[in-house]
Amino acid sequence: MKYFVQVLFLIIIDGISFLVETKAGVVLQNDFAKLVRCDESFIKFTSFKFYKKSRTFAALNVTYTTFQDITSDEHVRLKVSAWQLRGNEFKKTVVDFSMGICTLYKANKFGALSLIKDSNLTGCPFPKDVYYINDMAPTSDVLPPFFPEGKWMLQLNFFNNGKVITEVQWMMTILKQL
Ligand SMILES: *[C@@H]1O[C@H](CO)[C@@H](O)[C@H](O)[C@H]1NC(C)=O
Ligand SMILES: *[C@@H]1O[C@H](CO)[C@@H](O)[C@H](O)[C@H]1NC(C)=O
Repeated sequence: MKYFVQVLFLIIIDGISFLVETKAGVVLQNDFAKLVRCDESFIKFTSFKFYKKSRTFAALNVTYTTFQDITSDEHVRLKVSAWQLRGNEFKKTVVDFSMGICTLYKANKFGALSLIKDSNLTGCPFPKDVYYINDMAPTSDVLPPFFPEGKWMLQLNFFNNGKVITEVQWMMTILKQL
């Protein structure tokens, strides 16, 4: 009932467009993104801005400089771990995997290309340079089926030679539509 009221409220606020963006009755609401750490000998963020575009849509804009060419999966890997809020604590779940950044890009895994459509990334390879990515906002399309509703934290760790070069925490809420 609580979610029904919440979803109904969102639909009233944002009209039909909000419904069209969702898949399989699941809504992904992006709550917050935080840059936890980064290795400035490899990559430096000059801007990291999570902002609310509208009542129901929030996104991340970043600009960063890389100091090494990224040419293969061995160079940079992304490890994703999903933590779910239970009680008032985030608990690690079984959703935990890792993938080379070039495969992520080339095979368009998890809608990677739609996440970076407003960017000047044209890799892989990604030569060392300045890059921007605007309006990054995952939708429910990136989720595996039957992803449970609730508050979630995605821990995104980018690794180079087993060392974390960037860690981002992405907070989101999964809502089920009735
Ligand atoms: C990406 O855009 C930034 C800022 O406009 C620019 O400085 C940089 O050279 C561009 N990088 C590439 C690879 O085109
Ligand atoms: C983020 O990028 C979008 C698209 O370029 C722009 O419209 C928006 O104003 C930017 N937001 C912030 C907070 O920089």
